[in-house]
Amino acid sequence: MLKGNRVILRALSRDDLPRQQQFNNDIEVELAGGGDPPLPQSLARLQAEFDAGLSKGSRDGASFAIEVEGVYIGGCALFNFDHVAHRAMLGIGIGDKAYWGQGYGREAVQLLVDYGFRHHNLHKVWLEVHGRNQRAIRAYRACGFVEEGRLRQHVWSDGAYDDLVIMGVLRPEARTEAR
Ligand SMILES: CC(C)(COP(=O)(O)OP(=O)(O)OC[C@H]1O[C@@H](n2cnc3c(N)ncnc32)[C@H](O)[C@@H]1OP(=O)(O)O)[C@@H](O)C(=O)NCCC(=O)NCCS
Repeated sequence: MLKGNRVILRALSRDDLPRQQQFNNDIEVELAGGGDPPLPQSLARLQAEFDAGLSKGSRDGASFAIEVEGVYIGGCALFNFDHVAHRAMLGIGIGDKAYWGQGYGREAVQLLVDYGFRHHNLHKVWLEVHGRNQRAIRAYRACGFVEEGRLRQHVWSDGAYDDLVIMGVLRPEARTEAR
């Protein structure tokens, strides 16, 4: 649906779920993604959640699968839309580590941010990231995000406390070379 130079953002399909299950059971990927402590996840549960979402009959929301040369490598989304302040949060997870550090993440973020500003009339996109996740922070900076705040030793991850960094990008600041 959204095409960059190397990255396509499209709807998630049921065929993507076996790879997603591998990603969700990779502890390094899970820890980098932040959020709740990693838990084992079965394919059956992922499929049941996918099917339940379909049977609700609602639209998929602003969630995208990330595809590179026909390969499903992860997902990204805009969520928590505030329709008064025109802002939303961004999340991304490239689950196939072979694709880390090659610019795919920043291209996906640029496409998603541009989509939010252009099609949802957002004014601001923001996110939370662990302070130790320098790969993510550098990728977000390259897309125009700046650090807006830091909650010190706020999260527990991989046996240690870490800062929670708040980053945001306003519409005029976004870098969207990907499009
Ligand atoms: C975070 C993520 C989306 C970034 O996408 P990516 O394609 O890997 O990142 P990019 O290649 O666009 O940019 C990575 C940047 O980090 C740097 N980098 C790469 N490996 C690094 C490492 N081990 N430590 C620190 N920096 C690193 C790269 O040099 C690049 O920065 P630069 O352009 O300033 O030199 C992706 O790695 C990912 O999904 N990781 C797992 C889940 C996750 O962390 N999600 C984000 C949660 S907030």
